[in-house]
Amino acid sequence: MTHAYVLGISAYYHDSAACLLRDGEIVAAAQEERFTRKKGDASFPTHAVAFCLDVAGIKAKDLTHVGFYDKPLLKFERILDTYLGVAPRGLRSFLMAAPLWLKEKLHLDRELRESLGYEGELLYAEHHESHAASAFFPSPFSEAAILTLDGVGEWATTAFGVGRGNEIELFKEIHWPDSLGLLYSAFTYYTGFKVNSGEYKVMGLAPYGEPKYVDLIYRELIELKDDGSFKLNQAYFNYLAGLTMTNGAFDRLFGGPPRVPETKLTQREMDLARSVQVVCEEVIMRMARTVHRETGSENLCLAGGVALNCVANGRLLREGPFKRLWIQPAAGDAGGALGVAQLIWHRHCKAPRHVTPGTDAMRGAYLGPEFPPPEIERFLQSQHAPYERLERTDLLRRVAALLAREKIVGWFDGRMEFGPRALGARSILGDPRSPRMQAQMNIKIKFREGFRPFAPSVLRERAHDYFDLAGDSPYMLLVAPVREERRIPMTEEQHGLWGIDKLNVVRSDIPAVTHIDYSARIQTVDRETNPNYYDLIAEFERITGCGLLVNTSFNVRGEPIVCTPADAYRCFMRTNIDYLVLGPFLLSKEGQSEWKEVEDWRLQFQLD
Ligand SMILES: [Fe+2]
Repeated sequence: MTHAYVLGISAYYHDSAACLLRDGEIVAAAQEERFTRKKGDASFPTHAVAFCLDVAGIKAKDLTHVGFYDKPLLKFERILDTYLGVAPRGLRSFLMAAPLWLKEKLHLDRELRESLGYEGELLYAEHHESHAASAFFPSPFSEAAILTLDGVGEWATTAFGVGRGNEIELFKEIHWPDSLGLLYSAFTYYTGFKVNSGEYKVMGLAPYGEPKYVDLIYRELIELKDDGSFKLNQAYFNYLAGLTMTNGAFDRLFGGPPRVPETKLTQREMDLARSVQVVCEEVIMRMARTVHRETGSENLCLAGGVALNCVANGRLLREGPFKRLWIQPAAGDAGGALGVAQLIWHRHCKAPRHVTPGTDAMRGAYLGPEFPPPEIERFLQSQHAPYERLERTDLLRRVAALLAREKIVGWFDGRMEFGPRALGARSILGDPRSPRMQAQMNIKIKFREGFRPFAPSVLRERAHDYFDLAGDSPYMLLVAPVREERRIPMTEEQHGLWGIDKLNVVRSDIPAVTHIDYSARIQTVDRETNPNYYDLIAEFERITGCGLLVNTSFNVRGEPIVCTPADAYRCFMRTNIDYLVLGPFLLSKEGQSEWKEVEDWRLQFQLD
């Protein structure tokens, strides 16, 4: 029987990726960074494409269609227009961008064909259509309102739409340079974090601050209308003309230059973070009310980088007009690969869409590579790494017991996740009851800022015992409050503590996952999508009475999440992770011989 294969690609902006559909079903998806080990790798996703074809056992010539997630010419027009609009101020940023655009983006057809060895039809979608398709088509809804929010695609930075059956329609857009993503990124830059990846840190920092600058932001930076549409005052931004996000006027407005990266965080950064978060949430709430009014739907689908703001998402679910919310787990540009593939399947090929209510089509986002036990074992033997092979029940028991003794475990099992969150396939796990766990995991394992919160993976059926969460959160994209009865109120003295010192105050009976404002970023785990992970948490509950674990991504700061057993072993050996699980194999740190760091570790592992 012959199948229809559609390959979607996103590349050249940030976080390139590939996704393959077989007869409309998502069979594989992965980000290029995981293979090349360059965080946010934007180059052509050669490895991710090869992986997708490999999963299906096909060659590029067997592909029915190939799609690209945005329209390079439209994007080029925006860049050119921006340059002309602000010339000669914009010359530098234009010259920085132009060679790349000219060389790679305008010759995309040839590039795609040459890289793939594919001669069939190539299709291009618009950037926000790709996001919208990735939000609606895999969702569990047969009809829904759609909101896509990001930095910028071609021209659009926000799109309002509706999905029905196998169709999506975008009926309203907000255009560059007015962008909620870029407003957030401007504050990310100004508070001394990296644009495009530090936004998460700003969100994590926000609860330590006061919303002191909200009025100032409304007065000077953003003109916000009731319907959520807005204009940014370009007098304060520098992304049109320069290579930075903000300018001298922005510095004067907020009383000083941007924080120098890696220097000490002060209350000011926390207040700035809180303020931009408050404004961002307000804009999203207004947009949601608008798209609700215009579509009359009770379901909302979200995608685009801003949809990773799980604090805003949580508020939307609690206070917004929609009954149900579904967020594409690969909400950033990587997810555009999945979106364009589905758009081709449903719009171009006119294939019908089958929805199973209550179930989405993402397979828990476990769409990446997996490694069979013989392959893992060969690797371990090549390293002369001592290990034990355990039966499933024994393994789960042993690991749960280790976790209950406050040991930190690297957990590598099954297919790698698609999207930025680790969901129990490439995760580092810990005991959420431990008051020391948050600081320990941040500093000794992740080598990152101590304020960063950790997230719980909770058994789906137990979620309501711990959190005030309406519905499921399978992709860790919703923040909800820890239940009142689990909280430990702060004393007068503790209230008086400064910013990060508050971190060490035990705030609930699950302190390692309770943020400073008594919130938690939740992953609900159901047995059907990840039985091993579910049963591990269930075993932990059996011996401790606690139905959740700390789950953080299996990587160190600045590095992509691990993909292969070799990546995992290296991360295990370079950090203070106590135990490593690789499929059925268990390794203890104590049992390993000393780790010697070499420059090109691929040589060390004799990998190609
Ligand atoms: Fe985007």
